[in-house]
Amino acid sequence: MMEAIKTRRSVRKYKPTPVPESLLKEVLNAARMAPSADNSQPWKFVVVRDEQTKLKLAAAANGQKFITQAPIIIVACGLPDEAFPTVGGYMSSHVIDVSIAVDHLTLAAQASGLGTCWIAAFKEDKVRDVLGIPEDVRVVALTPLGYPDESPDRSPRKNLEELVVYDRYQ
Ligand SMILES: Cc1cc2nc3c(=O)[nH]c(=O)nc-3n(C[C@H](O)[C@H](O)[C@H](O)COP(=O)(O)O)c2cc1C
Repeated sequence: MMEAIKTRRSVRKYKPTPVPESLLKEVLNAARMAPSADNSQPWKFVVVRDEQTKLKLAAAANGQKFITQAPIIIVACGLPDEAFPTVGGYMSSHVIDVSIAVDHLTLAAQASGLGTCWIAAFKEDKVRDVLGIPEDVRVVALTPLGYPDESPDRSPRKNLEELVVYDRYQ
């Protein structure tokens, strides 16, 4: 697990090589196993393989054409009506829940030699139109899924000292 966490990168170049159905199922299963508030599992994943639909999704994702190189784009949706409504007493859980599931998916993909890239720069209404997503469903993130055609360097991270405090915030 630590290997996958440490080696995962946002991959922005993909080979056209198809993803075997068994691996697709494996990464979707990793998403399915994710925890969620009150075990609400307020998510739905649209697996897009159609070339025209991928192009329309790239347009909806602010023109990020690279996502069409991957044989698959997964669109992760949140279901607010099924989510826990008051996480921390103030917010619906669906964005958190879907994000955890997508993180599971990206790490499972990495462990299987597949690349992903979180895509959250998109116009939700456009993604909705392309895929026929109803109004009561929210689009949380997209990711291409395919074999990487690049090996990106590790991007910098803050030091632990900067982001961890002990016993009190301040
Ligand atoms: C919520 C979220 C939204 C992101 N949206 C995009 C995006 O729209 N396009 C993109 O190329 N990368 C996107 N990224 C990828 C980040 O740029 C990337 O995770 C960050 O630079 C760290 O690099 P790494 O993933 O290779 O470790 C997004 C990442 C997250 C977590």
